[in-house]
Parts: sequence; C-alpha cells; structure tokens
Amino acid sequence: MALTNRRTFLVSSLAALGAAGIPYSAWTQSPAATASSPNQLLLGVDYYPDQTPESLWEEDARMIAESGFTNVRIAEFAWALMEPAEGKFEFDWLRRAVQSLHKHNISVILGTPSAAPPPWLTMHYPEVVEVNAQGERLHPGGRRFTCPTNQTYRRLSLAVANEMARAFADTSGVIGWQIDNELTLGSSPRCYCTFCQAGFQVWLHAKYSSLDNLNRNWGTVFWSQTYTDFSQIPVPLPSGGDPNPGLALDYDRYQSDANTSFLEEQLAALRKICPKHFVTTNNVGLPLDTIDLRSHYGKLDFVAFDNYPGFFEMILHQQGKSGSLISDVIPASVALGHDFARSIHGGKPFMIMEEQSGKAGQSTFSPQPEKGQIRLWTCQAVAHGAMGVNYFRWDTATFGAEEYWHGMLNHDRSKSPAFDEIIKTVKELKALGPEILNSQYPADTALLFDYDSSWAIKIQPGHHGLSYTDKVTSWYASTSPSRTGIDVIGPNDELGKYKIVFAPVMYVVSEKNAASIRTFVQNGGVFVSNFRLGVKNEYSQIVRTPLPGRLRDVMGVTVADYVPIYSGKQGVKFSSLLAGPDGECGIWADILQPSHAEVLGTYTSGSHVGRAAVTINSFGKGKAIYVGADLTSPSLSRVLRKLADLAGVKQLFQVPAGVELTVRRAGDKQWIFLLNHTSAPQGINVPRTFKDLLTGETLTQKVGLDAYGVRVLQT
Ligand code: GAL
Repeated sequence: MALTNRRTFLVSSLAALGAAGIPYSAWTQSPAATASSPNQLLLGVDYYPDQTPESLWEEDARMIAESGFTNVRIAEFAWALMEPAEGKFEFDWLRRAVQSLHKHNISVILGTPSAAPPPWLTMHYPEVVEVNAQGERLHPGGRRFTCPTNQTYRRLSLAVANEMARAFADTSGVIGWQIDNELTLGSSPRCYCTFCQAGFQVWLHAKYSSLDNLNRNWGTVFWSQTYTDFSQIPVPLPSGGDPNPGLALDYDRYQSDANTSFLEEQLAALRKICPKHFVTTNNVGLPLDTIDLRSHYGKLDFVAFDNYPGFFEMILHQQGKSGSLISDVIPASVALGHDFARSIHGGKPFMIMEEQSGKAGQSTFSPQPEKGQIRLWTCQAVAHGAMGVNYFRWDTATFGAEEYWHGMLNHDRSKSPAFDEIIKTVKELKALGPEILNSQYPADTALLFDYDSSWAIKIQPGHHGLSYTDKVTSWYASTSPSRTGIDVIGPNDELGKYKIVFAPVMYVVSEKNAASIRTFVQNGGVFVSNFRLGVKNEYSQIVRTPLPGRLRDVMGVTVADYVPIYSGKQGVKFSSLLAGPDGECGIWADILQPSHAEVLGTYTSGSHVGRAAVTINSFGKGKAIYVGADLTSPSLSRVLRKLADLAGVKQLFQVPAGVELTVRRAGDKQWIFLLNHTSAPQGINVPRTFKDLLTGETLTQKVGLDAYGVRVLQT
C-alpha cells in the first residue's frame, strides 16, 4: 500500500475505531502502529444477519455488545442477497445490519462473497464450475466449487467486491475486509478445466520463456513428451500413466498462484476504494498445504486463520485413530498452525477469524468441547501471537448445510453450554491489557516448511505412507517438550537468527536454498534434516550427484542407498552424543556413508546392519545432522531434543507432558502462558514467585493447573 494511503488508513481507522469504542489496535502492520497505544485484542463473533430475521438483529447486536465483543465478521456468503440478478446490486439490508451493530459499538469486518456464487450465475455461466482431478466437472449447490482461472468468475467476483467496497467505503463501523472464504479448502483442491490449462500454458511461457528450456528442465524426452508448442501442454489429468513430475509440480505452483492472483484482484479493488480499511482473508493453515500461504498473505495486512480443534479430533476418529495419536496430535497441530501464522508475516500478530465455540460438524459433528477447552484454545492462540479471536458463530443456523455447526446460541436462541466460558475468557483477555499485543514471540528454533517439498512428495511419495505434512507435524511436536519458541519458516527466510533449524524431509533443494543452509551452518548454526534430503532440484529432476546432492559437503555423508520399508522391522542403535535406548525405524531408511561425519546411530537388522543411520558433521563453526532413519516416537523426540540442547536452546522451566509453555516478551516484561491440554490437573515446579494475571493469585514454587487450565504468569 502506498505510504499516503497507509497514512490515510491510520488516521481514518483511528476515527472509525474510536467511533466504535475500540481503541486503536496492532492489526495495522505499519511502523506508526507500534508507536501507538493503547490498543486491545480484537475479540468477536462470526455473525450471519443474512440468515437471521431482521426482527432479531437489534437483540443480537445488543447481546453481542453485552458479551464484551468488539467486532463481528459478516456477509462472506451472501452473494445472492447482494446481487439477486447480474448487475443488480442490493446493499440496503447489509447497511441496516451494519448500522444496528455499529449502534452498539460493534465494528464490522465485511466478507466479499466469492466463495458462494448464486444459482443465476452458475446457470448462465456453467463453465465457472471447477473440474476435479478425475476430469469431472463439479456441480453447483455447495460452495467453493469454482475455477480460480476462469475470467467470467473472476469478473463477476470482482464486480460484486467492487460494488460492495463502494457501498461501504465510508460506512461508520466498517473497519476491514475478509476476501472470499478459505480458498485453501474445497472438495477438490485443484481445478483441471480448459481455462486452467490455458492459464497454465501462459504461466509456463512466462516462467520458461522457451520450449527448449521447458523441455530440458522437465525432461520431456521421456515417454516422447517433447512439446513443440505451448498449446500442447496438458494438465495432469488421468492419462494412462503418472504425469511428468516437473509438470505436476509446476501445476501445483500454478494453481496456488492462480488462487493468489484471484485474491489479489479483489485486494487491488479494496485498496483503491477503501484505503482506510484493513484487508485480510481467512484460511485453514498448516497442516493443509493446498496454497502457498506465504505468497497468499504477502500483500494482505495480517494473517487470519480458522481453528477447529474439536472438529479435527472428530476427523481423526473417523480415520480410525485413537488414544495419544489424537491427544498429542491435536494441540501440536494447532500450535504448528499458530506458529506458522505468526511466522508468515515475520512475527507480526495474526488473527483467528473463526474459533470453534461448540459442537462442530456438518452431517456428523464433534461432541461439545470439554469445560475449559474453548478458553484453552483461545489462550493458546494469544500465547502464540494472536491479536484477536472471533468465535464461529454467534447463533446456530436452523437451516442449510451447517445446522449442526453449533454457535454461542443454540437453535432456540438459548445460551450454549460454552457461552459463559467464552464471555469469561473475553473479559480475562481484555484485562491482560494492550501491551501484550505488541509483544514479541522469541524463538531460537526454526522448523522449515517447504511447499515445493510437500507437493513433490505428494506427487511421488516413494512410500505410500509418506506424507510431508505428517512428518512436519510430528517433528514440530517432537522438537520441544512444551512447543516453546518455534518459528515455522520457509526455505527463503533468513536462517541466521536461529540456533537450530529442523528441516524434515527436505526433498527439493534449490541452489539458493542450499547456499543459505551452507552459510547458516558455516556461521555456527545447527541444521538437522533427515531421509530424502536434497533428492530433487527445483524442476523436480533428481540431482545427478550422489545424495544428499547440493548439501553433501555440509552433511559430510553420502547416501549409499535409500530404502522404503514395507515389511520387517528396522531398528537403530544410538551411540556417543545420542546414547540411549534403541529406536525404531518407520517407513524409510537412508543408508549413510560418512565422509567426514561422525556416526551417532547404526541400523540393527537386515542387509544394512551396522551401517550408519544418524550422523553429525562439523562444518565451519556449526553442525549438520542427518537422521537417515525414519525414527518413530519416543526416539524421535529424544533425539531432536538432545540436538536442541546441543544447539543451546534453553527451556524456561520443565513442564509435564501435555502442557504447553510459551512466552511473549516486550522489553523486560514477559507473559508466560501455561496451557494444560490434558484432562487431568497438573502441577509445575517454578523457580520464582509469579503472579497469575488471569486470577491475580501469587504463586510460589508450585503452580497448579486445572484440567484444560490456563495460567498467564508474570514476575
Ligand atoms: C469454516 C468456514 C465457515 C464454516 C465453518 C464451519 O471452515 O470458513 O464458513 O463453514 O468452517 O463449517
């Protein structure tokens, strides 16, 4: 955004927020924002006046305000009401809804409605509907069924966003925009229609300039796929054999870019027409990898994610998972998503645009969250750097596909079981005061998440059980007992500020990324990776040098063989720095031949018995560790934690399993969040006397945590 616009934005935002009774907040990402205080967390609900009789709007607005909320997000699916026929726009109803909310000092985030095109549109323009990976066209009737490339869909999406922007640019109470809704999430994450094919061809032309260049980098001589005209290039639909891996990876990149450029068309309009409003979008973040969210959020004011831990738990049950697979995975995945959200904008505050507030699901639904869990999830977000949380949703729909996605009011408008807990949480968080918003989240550890590796592994997993996102999640959960101080960064981010970088299954390594890792280790960093490191270049061709390819000198090993494991168990015996109980190897074993590296673990069975499984190499002032074996828990945790110790990562104090400890810091002030994700009370020995900012209690030596309890400690 141009500086003048930014200034106008700040001045008018202050006015709008002041009018809404909300002090200026840290959501603006400009230098002026940090100088400005006071501010406060943005706490609100997702509200649907379009689905609620107008006679109830006044009561809703009053109750939302009385509950202590500061904002709502509305209208993101109401295209049919805003444009009942092509080019005929009706915003009076929405203006009345905004007015009734604003009258009660509730600010409004407006959603542009492109996720739910109305029937007149799909009837007139059936070609806007996307085609799935089997080549079948989806059908209208749900939502998020459109092609991101299609010019008609783009034109009509932009038209309604433009009209909306014009209608609300100067409306009191409106503070910002959400573009579309969850572009990461549809029943088919990619479109394969003819418009996408044409768009892909144009994108490839811009990327490769010449067909010679493209043919060489994809290796199209294989299976006689040499293209002599860009118009011959297909999309990866079923064609009697696997697609060219270079084409398939570029197609993932194209689809990701198409979604982002679709979003940016609306963004440009909103920036122009509503310079005083912030603009963001909402998504399900990691471990979902459908769109590269780093570039997606690149031009937006802040990152906003949706968070449904209980719904996620239900899905894991449906997949046949149970026990600790669920109880360990969920808090870790949620924390991973939050750390990713914060890291996308380099540590700036993010928002939870939708937070689960009750039983969640569509045709089947999760149980009511346990007492304390919604407070816990809310505080977990703030602990990891959130500046705001909106609860999904205010009331529960009595019609439509989400009748069973429960909100804060039941179907009969009585208060839901979690209503009082949410109100209490809002009050507690407000009482934390404004300072926490501008606090930093210190991190010595980085976990590398690389979209190229994720997509390339999906295209050729090597073993049906290998999922990049699963590996990233389990490494994230294993690196620190309490998930303290981890940034989730990309391969192009600066590594130098971390003591240790974990890069699980980094299958694709470009020259540039290899150079950045080499410099990091040379300068004293600890780099930890594992099997399948550096197998591919950025065109998804296998490197012609021994593995790990471009990082062989840094790692000090050569991969003598790589072995997917289907039957028979492989184990690992540890030595030296890692000495401890033997470990199990899961689905993969890279057999290592050290050149300079020291062996820290060897395989215990089969034809590779005694060969190196884990190595450490001194390179420059740093260390590079290759974990060739797919270590499973508990050895994975033991090994990764030992390596974090080696790198000098310190834990503030010890916490029991299932308790998260995170720290936010501003100057010499810190907020220590203790989050109990278990159903049992926990006790923690603390080295000093602390005050719990939520209860006002003074705590010495031992801090008790209720089941699903939270404490925010300060000295
Ligand atoms: C989100 C979505 C909302 C609503 C909610 C509950 O993923 O953004 O519109 O559908 O889930 O299903």
